[in-house]
Amino acid sequence: MPASSLDQLVSLCKRRGFIFPGSEIYGGLANTWDYGPLGVELKNRVKREWWKTFVHKRGDMVGVDAAILMNPKVWEASGHVTSFSDPLIECKECHYRTRADKMMEEWVYFKEDGNYESFFTRLIRGIQPLLKVPQKAPLKGKQKITIPLKLSFKLKDDDREIKTDSLNITYDFDLNAIDKRALIHHFFQEILRFNCPNCGKTNWTEPKQFNLMFRTQQGVIEGEGNDIYLRPETAQGIFVNFRNILDTMRPRLPFGVAQIGKAFRNEITPGNFTFRTREFEQMEIEYFVEPGKEKEIFEEWKELVWNWYLSLGIEKKNLRIREHDKEELSHYSSRTIDIEYQFPWGWGELFGLANRGDFDLKQHEKFSGEDLTYTDPDDATKKFLPHVVEPSFGCDRTVLTFLLEAYTEEDAPTASGGSEKRVVMKFDPRLAPVDVAILPLSKKEHLIAKAQELYKKIIQETDLVVDFDVTGSIGKRYRRQDEIGTPRCITVDFGTLGEDDKQGTRDTVTIRDRDTLKQERVAIGGITEKLQ
Ligand code: GAP
Repeated sequence: MPASSLDQLVSLCKRRGFIFPGSEIYGGLANTWDYGPLGVELKNRVKREWWKTFVHKRGDMVGVDAAILMNPKVWEASGHVTSFSDPLIECKECHYRTRADKMMEEWVYFKEDGNYESFFTRLIRGIQPLLKVPQKAPLKGKQKITIPLKLSFKLKDDDREIKTDSLNITYDFDLNAIDKRALIHHFFQEILRFNCPNCGKTNWTEPKQFNLMFRTQQGVIEGEGNDIYLRPETAQGIFVNFRNILDTMRPRLPFGVAQIGKAFRNEITPGNFTFRTREFEQMEIEYFVEPGKEKEIFEEWKELVWNWYLSLGIEKKNLRIREHDKEELSHYSSRTIDIEYQFPWGWGELFGLANRGDFDLKQHEKFSGEDLTYTDPDDATKKFLPHVVEPSFGCDRTVLTFLLEAYTEEDAPTASGGSEKRVVMKFDPRLAPVDVAILPLSKKEHLIAKAQELYKKIIQETDLVVDFDVTGSIGKRYRRQDEIGTPRCITVDFGTLGEDDKQGTRDTVTIRDRDTLKQERVAIGGITEKLQ
């Protein structure tokens, strides 16, 4: 969809009941969103397809639904207390807070017209003198140094995409001659020269690490000892139940555990609709393998997930894989790739696949004192900590991607032989929030009664989600169904009642296809089988 259409999508989502701004009657709460009646159907279907593909259809997977509130020691063991942070800077004048790396993105886009070349030329020029700075920690050999900055955008008034591969700026430096800490310091100094986007002044605090975990208190007594966190990832709910799963389900390696649930991060710069929010849902799998097998399994998951997105209608040209550089890897990962989607504002992470090794199980063994080893069922002397490959999906981002991908504006023929613009959500039928709409042609009572009879028959005899709509002209009702992506509309007309002059239309209805707009006359008798 064209970049300008994010606003159109947001407005469609509100108008048609997919997604509403959170707490709207109180003026909202920034970056919170509520799924409306159609949004919840769509999201449930995304989760259903996911669970079906990755749990039920495989035979090597089980699920859990762990608590959001966990013992705070979990987050010490997982490394989140010490390592889960972003660089934060704050304007001393107006207290606007932003992520230091995000700041750069805003600057290049708004102040330099997206001209990243001139910006980085300046930056590199600034860094060059540092090559002479004596190093503190010696680094060997001539190496590439990569500063991972997720930047991607389009030039204003220009359709060209900036090919920077999410701006991993790579310099070929002789690291023997550079102080890496000084380089990073310089990098941030560059950022601190930017004007505050809120008040226009240039008076920033030094960047400091800001922990993204949401803290809250448990129980009625306030105090340090009662501080707990809302989980920042669902993954840990799986690791802490590893022993329970081994003992109750007796799975054999390789096997996986899946979980869908909410996660919370006090993001410094949320935004872009539901793309980055502070409360969001994840669909995660921890796949346990024998040490040494993770490389091969990693490739398998990459393929599976890529194909899952394609199978549900995401166009290949809108997806790409991005490998994380060493410097960018999370504290627990030895290899990570993202599947990125081409959002209206540029490429953005949709899914992450990480090789977590035995990091988590080892840490939890250490912090809990429990034995988390797996025993080979064929050889009881073989005990070890399995390694983990983690496919991690953002559920809200996945829903957003399906919404963006479905959004289509096209010319459609009118009854009078002309053409008109229509907006149609071309969801894969497995995801569409409504399967079938029953539309009586007019408000005549006996026609409505016949249509209602058909409505009841379909909801009783099938699992389909059926909408019944009598409000407004038939044209308006088709437009609404197109905008919510209903694959088929059934019109009950006077022919259905045997009240028109055509032969043989009694007890037949018209089925209209959302995409081709073709209409087919079908007997009510076999309709449920046909719809299924
Ligand atoms: N357990 C691994 C993990 O949490 P992550 O890359 O931090 O990895 C996984 O998150 C996925 O969760 C991301 O690919 C993204 O789709 C989604 N996600 C992360 N932060 C998010 C946020 N603030 N809002 C919406 N989705 C988010």
